[in-house]
Amino acid sequence: MAPTLLRCPACQATLPTTTGMLRCACGSPLDAEHSFPSVSRALFDDRLGTLDGPHASGVWRFHELIHPGLPADAVVTRFEGNTPLYASPAVARFVGLGAIRLKHEGHNPSGSFKDRGMTAAVSHAVHHGAKILACASTGNTSASLASYAAVAGVKAAILVPAGKIALGKMSQALAYGATTLIVEGDFDAAMTLVQQGADELGLTLLNSLNPFRVEGQKTIILETIQQLSWEAPDWFVFPAGNLGNCGAFGKALREAKQLGLIDKVPRLLAVQAAGAAPFAAAFDRDFDRLEPVAAETIATAIRIGNPVSYQRAIRSIRETGGHVMKVDDGAIMAAKAVVDAAGIGAEPASCASVAGAKQAVASGLIKPTDRVACLLTGHLLKDPGATIDFHQGDAPSANKPITIQPTLSDLARALGL
Ligand code: F0G
Repeated sequence: MAPTLLRCPACQATLPTTTGMLRCACGSPLDAEHSFPSVSRALFDDRLGTLDGPHASGVWRFHELIHPGLPADAVVTRFEGNTPLYASPAVARFVGLGAIRLKHEGHNPSGSFKDRGMTAAVSHAVHHGAKILACASTGNTSASLASYAAVAGVKAAILVPAGKIALGKMSQALAYGATTLIVEGDFDAAMTLVQQGADELGLTLLNSLNPFRVEGQKTIILETIQQLSWEAPDWFVFPAGNLGNCGAFGKALREAKQLGLIDKVPRLLAVQAAGAAPFAAAFDRDFDRLEPVAAETIATAIRIGNPVSYQRAIRSIRETGGHVMKVDDGAIMAAKAVVDAAGIGAEPASCASVAGAKQAVASGLIKPTDRVACLLTGHLLKDPGATIDFHQGDAPSANKPITIQPTLSDLARALGL
């Protein structure tokens, strides 16, 4: 029997992993379900420091938990993962905690956490003969897919919303050679279109609706806990848009607990931008229904009004005693200024996690002594426009550039000497 099948979490129907179907006949996204071989903390610890081959990747180090049946020679990897888990006293002070950890996924090869899901899903797709890999994206998924498709030597088609994709991300898609389609509409329109393309034109969908994207993204949380010597934090805080990560993190924790890799499950805190917060609104109504919104936020990565992984995400929040909140753009940029000035840096959407942690400490949801890990999802250089505009503006923490003449006196004056 194959070690992995796809199961519908709503009606429990099962399908082989080779199905081209995106959703179950009942409409629900499908989840990968594995018959896990025996694993242990020691197995994954022994692979740390591996310098070559799939186990050198922070995703494929957990091969047995991601895609146990995929042969090692089918793995398409850029040695993603193995990202730093910073401790930053400056960010901890800003948030109101004694200490904080920042899991920086911007250190992945294409500069965002998307590479973790992409290595798993592209490996699976190409192994099963996919010809055109496609995604809709606010920018990071497309940059990542463009890169991994190029490494695999397969065509990529990316659909991005016109005028709403940050400069760094757009330049990556073009540079890696993806067919780049600028859709006259928002992300949600592009997402609907790419699903139609998958159903009717035979495109292979690489958004997080693809169950193997979820499998790869589980390793964000597995690697963080491994870096903490397998002692899970009290809270894991992350920015939330299309809700792929939220679904993946709950699944990772459920499986890690079942397999005896962790003793305690951290609470998940999903943070949305206030102008793109349908999940936070649904949480406040005990998840009675999802009401899509016309999304708007400076954090273009999470400018999403109709998240695809809503059902998976509900399960993750419920199972972990989690919470969902929203933060406004001013709070996101204030948090970003602190993360950046700490020498670490991240793109705007990433910093929704830090802004959310601060708000949660202020409201008493998170206690100042709690162990908190915040996820930074993308690199500072992804969105240079947002950073430069901020520092040329009037915010108290703006670090305005100073123009000088090439003279020693101007230099001395500018430095206050
Ligand atoms: N942070 C960044 C930097 C992102 O690019 C995204 C999603 C998220 C957070 C939200 O993660 O969707 O799993 O809830 N970006 C997608 C994209 C939508 O197309 O690049 P999520």
